Amino acid sequence: MSTIILNNGVEMPQLGFGTIMQLGEQITDNVAFALNNGYKLIDTANRYGNEVEVGLGLKKSGLPREAYFLETKLGPTLYENDDAIDGTLERLGVEYIDLMILHHPVNNYIYAYKMLEKAYKEGKLRVIGVSNFPVEKLEHLLSECEVVPAVMQVEAHPYYPAEKVKAFCDEKGIKLQAWYPLGHGNADLVNDPVFAELAEKYQKSTVQVILRWHLQMGFGFVPGSKSFAHIKENAEIFDFELTAAEMGRIALLNKHEPFYKVTPESLKRLATTKCNFED
Ligand SMILES: NC(=O)c1ccc[n+]([C@@H]2O[C@H](COP(=O)([O-])OP(=O)(O)OC[C@H]3O[C@@H](n4cnc5c(N)ncnc54)[C@H](OP(=O)(O)O)[C@@H]3O)[C@@H](O)[C@H]2O)c1
Repeated sequence: MSTIILNNGVEMPQLGFGTIMQLGEQITDNVAFALNNGYKLIDTANRYGNEVEVGLGLKKSGLPREAYFLETKLGPTLYENDDAIDGTLERLGVEYIDLMILHHPVNNYIYAYKMLEKAYKEGKLRVIGVSNFPVEKLEHLLSECEVVPAVMQVEAHPYYPAEKVKAFCDEKGIKLQAWYPLGHGNADLVNDPVFAELAEKYQKSTVQVILRWHLQMGFGFVPGSKSFAHIKENAEIFDFELTAAEMGRIALLNKHEPFYKVTPESLKRLATTKCNFED
């Protein structure tokens, strides 16, 4: 298992299992399956409405707490709720969270980040970070915070390697973690002829080639899947290596456009949509 050393010395597994849009028994079973099939990191969020079931999956895995790295995201509607982090610990059924990040740069994110800092100092969170912050918002946060974020989770994949924010994060020692590492399963990306050719060469699937690219880019990445077969397949990426020339060919696929478009409407929705446990 390959790890990234974060700015406070904590080691974060590069590969994680993403849990968006999976609820109930399905996510409990998939979390337990992932933890017993090559994953050591689980990524959820207040907003996914599945933290209780993710917590049950952690227990179902049979693994001791220190054997896995648990990540979740503070929902924007909770940014001024002083009980939000304790509530998250309770829903997940754990005494500490390895990484908690702010989900979006909306609402009073400075107040929210200060809540993360407090919980970090109290030992409830081992690492803190952010998600979806453009460079200007990161600069604002850095000018106000005491603890520099360790991780920035952002959409990234070969069609959009998030170069601008990566350059800024590299300079500040903030590690990038990719969401939509497979472009949410986008057919053009997953079936791109470059990946098909490399898959043939290495006797891997195109998805495994894409995930191997993330690994060699030094990203954290959290592919999601509802299928046991895919979950297992996506962790079998540690026994081959793309050459520098192949990484160079993949770099040319950059389309400089994310799949997920931020608009004033989307920001408003992200700022106001409540989590399923809120009134
Ligand atoms: N911070 C944020 O704002 C944010 C936003 C979005 C997502 N995320 C995180 O990122 C994670 C990943 O995002 P995502 O799940 O939407 O997108 P993704 O991981 O890029 O792609 C998932 C899609 O790829 C398919 N897939 C996975 N493995 C496959 C394989 N081996 N072969 C063929 N198809 C495969 C899945 O279908 P099957 O189910 O059929 O395998 C699913 O349709 C989320 O779960 C969440 O944790 C964070």
